[in-house]
Amino acid sequence: MLEENGIHTHYIETLNETDMRAKKVTILPLEVIIRNISAGSFAKRYGVEEGIEFKEPTFELSYKNDDLGDPLMNEDHAVALGLVTREQYDEIKKTTLKINELLKDFFHGIGVTLVDFKIEFGTDKDGNILLADEISPDTCRLWDEKTKEKLDKDIFRRDLGNLTEGYQKVLDRIRG
Ligand code: TMP
Repeated sequence: MLEENGIHTHYIETLNETDMRAKKVTILPLEVIIRNISAGSFAKRYGVEEGIEFKEPTFELSYKNDDLGDPLMNEDHAVALGLVTREQYDEIKKTTLKINELLKDFFHGIGVTLVDFKIEFGTDKDGNILLADEISPDTCRLWDEKTKEKLDKDIFRRDLGNLTEGYQKVLDRIRG
């Protein structure tokens, strides 16, 4: 769906239930996060409740480094460390905001609110930036539009019930 809407991704094809073929990329060590509604570490960091709908999405980067606990990172720091060029940063931000609009519409179509999500990008051998890794309930916050029921990994993180059932609900709605 993203490719059909002009987003360049590493995805080639699905092979079976558990495997897909993807273009080879070098992953950039950045977690790229969009927030449409306050939740998770945002709510904790700023001492606000979850569920505040933002007028505009927020764009955020973390440095992917487990030893350092994936610290927040701004544009200048990513450029200073040579992780991306200024042009690559601009492209990543523009692409990510577009992905957000596409995903928000997609999930709205199945009665789900896209609260926030994390994506990753990689570069191919020609230096093109491609959306890579995954988009799943592990990497998005998804709330039922009507009931606000959590349908994502927060079920596990917060011990709210059966994770598989939550993910299955999302899959069932996607499959119609
Ligand atoms: P956060 O509120 O914990 O910072 O998470 C923001 C979004 O990023 C949320 O949808 C979950 C996702 N995420 C990951 O996919 N991997 C991670 O390691 C973290 C910290 C968050």
